[in-house]
Amino acid sequence: MGNEREKQNAAAAAMELVEDGMTLGLGTGSTARFFVEMLAEEIADGLVVRAVPTSEETRRLAESHGVPLIPVDEVERIHLTVDGADELDEDGALIKGGGGALLREKIIADSSDHMVVIADPSKQILRLGSFPLPVEVTPFGFTLTARRVFEALRASGIDKPKTLLRTDAGHEAYVTDGGNHILDCHCGRIPDAEALAARLSAVPGVVEHGLFIGLARTVIIGNETGATLFEY
Ligand code: 5RP
Repeated sequence: MGNEREKQNAAAAAMELVEDGMTLGLGTGSTARFFVEMLAEEIADGLVVRAVPTSEETRRLAESHGVPLIPVDEVERIHLTVDGADELDEDGALIKGGGGALLREKIIADSSDHMVVIADPSKQILRLGSFPLPVEVTPFGFTLTARRVFEALRASGIDKPKTLLRTDAGHEAYVTDGGNHILDCHCGRIPDAEALAARLSAVPGVVEHGLFIGLARTVIIGNETGATLFEY
């Protein structure tokens, strides 16, 4: 990938927001991975923090780097969560879940004092929807749920949506950390993300969707030499 430096620089700028004594939410994906690795270096140099991972993948990464973790149900306060995104618009609304961790990511982000998104410039777009929107659904009745999701997309002004069940490398239905499946919804362009979010949340069988609206307070876009911060 050609944008590793941009991701690294975004992660490094997020590191500057970390303070001694914080409880951190650790995101999932290749950009968040840089942050976890940098955090581990600071911990080795004496920084004292505790963390909650947003996926089993990040749990393994953090554990292997010696980042102290606490069980999610023992967390009283999450000061700062640092996570990546698949798309972000100029209001700080996001599509997440390309890595399949949207449910835990949203639970942790929503309970955090401050969510920081780190990304390379390719993630910035004018209107959400080029990236297929991940929608996590229960395995039971997923064909029926997929039909209701399709209707919700149509009712939200998406002309020709496509809902595809995500598969893994063995062509089996992908299974999330929560034991659910993911419908990747090809929208092209989402005219009204808030309206779509409300419609998707109302579908029984939808566990969570990848629209993160009003959650990111800071977006950090890395570039070749540094990073730019946007506050919302
Ligand atoms: C995982 C996510 C990731 O944050 C998103 O996919 C971005 O990943 P990357 O930093 O690898 O581009 O939402 O569920």
